[in-house]
Amino acid sequence: MKSSADLLSLDQYRRSQQSPSNLSRRMKRSPIFRDRYRIVRPLGRGGFGVTYLAQDITLPGQPLCVIKQLCPKVSNEKILAKARERFEREAKILGQLGSHSQIPRLLNYFENEGEFYLVQEYVKGENLAKEVKQQGSLKEPEVRQFLNEILPVLDYVHQHRVIHRDIKPPNIIRCKSDGRLVLIDFGAVKERIVQAGDQTHLAASTQFVGTVGFAPPEQLALRPTFASDIYSLGLTCIYLLTGRPPLELDYDSVTGEVLWQEFVDVSQYFDQVLTKMMRVNPRERYRSVRELKRALELEPHLNELANCMSTQPPKPSDDDDDDPSDSYVSPMARTARSIRGWKNRLNSRNHPLPIDISSKDISSNSYRDSSYVS
Ligand SMILES: Nc1ncnc2c1ncn2[C@@H]1O[C@H](COP(=O)(O)OP(=O)(O)O)[C@@H](O)[C@H]1O
Ligand SMILES: [Mg+2]
Repeated sequence: MKSSADLLSLDQYRRSQQSPSNLSRRMKRSPIFRDRYRIVRPLGRGGFGVTYLAQDITLPGQPLCVIKQLCPKVSNEKILAKARERFEREAKILGQLGSHSQIPRLLNYFENEGEFYLVQEYVKGENLAKEVKQQGSLKEPEVRQFLNEILPVLDYVHQHRVIHRDIKPPNIIRCKSDGRLVLIDFGAVKERIVQAGDQTHLAASTQFVGTVGFAPPEQLALRPTFASDIYSLGLTCIYLLTGRPPLELDYDSVTGEVLWQEFVDVSQYFDQVLTKMMRVNPRERYRSVRELKRALELEPHLNELANCMSTQPPKPSDDDDDDPSDSYVSPMARTARSIRGWKNRLNSRNHPLPIDISSKDISSNSYRDSSYVS
């Protein structure tokens, strides 16, 4: 049968990669998968399967594409049917996500003898881990620029009720042609397939999707939230600034928070933003990508706002009945007053504080979501 033969050829190819003696012979005879995809080379090998670079030989110009093979390791027919149903549903969601210019377009998806395949647009470029290794770490303005570029796509993903779960430098590619950042390796499909496996054999470790070090504690405890992506993004920024992956950093033995400040010199404000992104308690992090964006956008206006009342004449103080709590204070003046208070408090302390500038319910980070809400 064609599909078995195709599968065999891909499996043979995979085995050949593990055996250097076979490698060159196999590369000369690149297999055609499903009469359509010529396998060029493997790009990566994760816990859930292998990612290949391939060419779609049915299209003019035989463009490159990426084939992600997901191996659910399921033996039971009923469970396989469930895995299939979820795969279908989630491939549709990935299909929707792919209409964003910073997410690879989903080109095809299919099942072949119990293994699931996603075919994606190939993004030519380097991932940020390689970029830092080759070009060295980044400075604060470049990391701020990185955040400006990546936050809109992360917001878009979250608006689709999807938690990425594996934000880290190797999963962000800078497109060679136009320099845009592209987010790859969406973990939810993998997780759902694994969860559909034999429940009696499910160990916590088999369900964990993400990367130790970049994943926050609640994700390791299998309760990821949208704020988990914000934590991983914070550690990604630290990697960009220091060139150090999380496991090379120390952690506060009491709070569990990352100790990164000694390696980088950033402004006090940016220090606070990063610190708040990486709070161990998800309730103390930014509640959403939008809130984080607002905090970054607000900074240039903080001084302006704080000073805007200083040109106004002081209130007459000889009126004993003048209770300030009774008098009208405009919203702008209230904001200015609270920013001045915040800045005064800030200046009077030695240690950086978490930022709490946008609203007083900033810490009510109550939303916890599963990856896909249908
Ligand atoms: N759409 C893509 N375009 C270009 N390269 C990709 C694409 N998807 C994956 N890759 C490359 O393949 C590697 C592995 O793919 P990824 O989706 O991250 O799977 P995993 O991390 O689970 O092995 C990535 O680090 C990246 O270098
Ligand atoms: Mg990856």
